[in-house]
Amino acid sequence: MKQLILVVGATGMLGEPVARQLEKDGYAVRVLARNPEKAKAKLGDSFELVRGDVEVPSSLEKAIEGCFGVHINLRGGPKAEDFERIEHRGTVNVVDVSARLGVQRITYLSGAAVFEKNSWFPSVKAKLQAESAIRESGVPYSIFCATHFMESLSLAIRGKRASVIGQQPHPLHWLAASDYAKMVSKSFRLPEAANKRFFVYGPEALTMTEALKKYCSIVHPGVKVSSVPIWLLSLIGMVSFNAELQFIAELMRFFEKVGEGGEPTEANRLLGTPTTTLEQWCDRQRKIA
Ligand SMILES: NC(=O)c1ccc[n+]([C@@H]2O[C@H](COP(=O)([O-])OP(=O)(O)OC[C@H]3O[C@@H](n4cnc5c(N)ncnc54)[C@H](OP(=O)(O)O)[C@@H]3O)[C@@H](O)[C@H]2O)c1
Repeated sequence: MKQLILVVGATGMLGEPVARQLEKDGYAVRVLARNPEKAKAKLGDSFELVRGDVEVPSSLEKAIEGCFGVHINLRGGPKAEDFERIEHRGTVNVVDVSARLGVQRITYLSGAAVFEKNSWFPSVKAKLQAESAIRESGVPYSIFCATHFMESLSLAIRGKRASVIGQQPHPLHWLAASDYAKMVSKSFRLPEAANKRFFVYGPEALTMTEALKKYCSIVHPGVKVSSVPIWLLSLIGMVSFNAELQFIAELMRFFEKVGEGGEPTEANRLLGTPTTTLEQWCDRQRKIA
């Protein structure tokens, strides 16, 4: 019989590739969905859908019952209290039920800048607390501290313009979600991957501007890349009462200060080194478009 894995956040940009890879690798995949109809429209008929919300512990029992593993892909925000409510408390709820129902492995998407010294930033604080809850649960876990995903480059485009917010001087090892998804899936099969915190990096380092220029030149040749000062985005967010824009400005201020941390050697050795270059990934996106 196939082992059953619940994916929390499978409708998300970085949750869906994991759900699809797990299915490809022979697992039965169940998806926790706040809105199963919306999830079905996005994901099709491939997965068993169970209605549930990480903020409502009683709704998690049915979804976690019978699962070998649980993968958690959650995004809070834009306000600090939303990170606390969804990423921290939501993970605590999933972990508590998982421990009680005998789940044998939890995987969790954290971030490559998630360190105690950066806990002044609300999403880092919530992720650190979520990681602690996972570690303390007694359920074997693999935590993925992944760097910037290539998939997020498309979020910088509005119409015919792509914006780099701020200077963004740090070179980043852009990662394809498909490479990351293979590593998550493999971790469920590998006893040595238990109780580890993995740093996951793509094969080449490019600044945000370099990466966005390459992405636009291949996938969106008509789009022009320009730089927008952080203070300007912050001001637009404030005068338009747009909390999401204000958060993006703060996030970009954070990324401008903080680059990648950690060492990917162990992840690469155990789970397979990510090999997709930005150029290869962009070529794939151009063919899909
Ligand atoms: N972008 C990057 O480069 C990068 C790098 C490293 C780490 N990360 C981290 O990756 C994580 C996931 O990002 P993403 O882009 O996949 O986010 P996303 O597209 O916004 O997906 C978030 C998922 O969480 C689900 N969700 C939210 N609240 C929920 C609740 N109360 N109960 C159940 N499900 C809930 C959403 O389901 P609905 O369909 O119901 O909304 C959605 O499936 C984030 O924490 C981010 O910080 C991102």
